[in-house]
Amino acid sequence: MKKITLVYFSPTKTTETVLRDITQGLAQSLEISSSEITAVNFTRPEIRGTVLEPFDKDDIVLLGAPVYAGRLPADAADFFKKLTASGTPAILTVVYGNREYEDALLELKDVASACGFIPVAGAAFIGEHSFASTDIPVAMNRPDENDLKQAQDFGGNTGTLLKKTTDLKKLAVLEVPGNFPYREGMGTGAPDFIAVTDACTECGICATACPSNAIDADDGFATIAADCILCCACIKACPEQARLMKAGPIKDKARWLNETCSIPKPVQVFFAVEP
Ligand SMILES: Cc1cc2nc3c(=O)[nH]c(=O)nc-3n(C[C@H](O)[C@H](O)[C@H](O)COP(=O)(O)O)c2cc1C
Ligand code: SF4
Ligand code: SF4
Repeated sequence: MKKITLVYFSPTKTTETVLRDITQGLAQSLEISSSEITAVNFTRPEIRGTVLEPFDKDDIVLLGAPVYAGRLPADAADFFKKLTASGTPAILTVVYGNREYEDALLELKDVASACGFIPVAGAAFIGEHSFASTDIPVAMNRPDENDLKQAQDFGGNTGTLLKKTTDLKKLAVLEVPGNFPYREGMGTGAPDFIAVTDACTECGICATACPSNAIDADDGFATIAADCILCCACIKACPEQARLMKAGPIKDKARWLNETCSIPKPVQVFFAVEP
């Protein structure tokens, strides 16, 4: 009996949304029931301390992460590198904010292969940009209905590929865009870019949403800039809209994205094929 496991990092939940629809299409195609599907959401730091059991040939694993500066977020790459697998088919997904995904999908493929997975399919989906807001929109409301239909189709088509492949080792290597050496990616630390307004009710939701424990409840829920990864999960999770992006380099970047990345990009999918 095949089991499906989703393993993902998703501060603002667009990656999670895409992976769930891919899984729906895959499970339907392979007639795998929901009781055989497990999700490992390692966005919160305490989950990243756990070590998962090795995956084997009865598993199908979906690996997913957002794109940060054309790469995988460092926390995501570090967690993926700890996975172990033996001939397990992997379905790779990156979600990006309608600028570019550059080397992120290639990096995910390389990490997965080094862990012992066999990458059978890969995809780059679009998600609302982390830096976006209603005032400065970038890829708002993506993934949209059409993206999610494509996610289901991608899952279904991957299921069809797995059904007709008797020996995964005979599949041609999955080819995805990207270059090695990878581009530089993000540095550590962040500018102090979030203001907490008087609207704050001290509910703590932002701190619970933060993947980096970078919010100090004892200091008016201020951001600890040295630990912040800029994900904006806290801003989007605040029910009072009490966390605002300050004027500065991140807001300038959001404006630049708004001006230069307004044409919606298409979903891209890739499959390993039998030679
Ligand atoms: C620090 C940072 C860097 C980002 N870099 C890129 C990028 O290089 N290209 C891009 O198109 N989107 C970029 N994004 C946007 C995210 O990839 C996008 O919003 C994604 O949907 C977020 O996924 P999540 O909802 O699962 O957190 C970046 C976001 C952050 C926070
Ligand atoms: S989520 Fe908003 S209201 Fe709640 S503690 Fe954080 S900043 Fe304050
Ligand atoms: S404090 Fe920084 S790392 Fe934490 S949720 Fe907010 S933007 Fe993300």
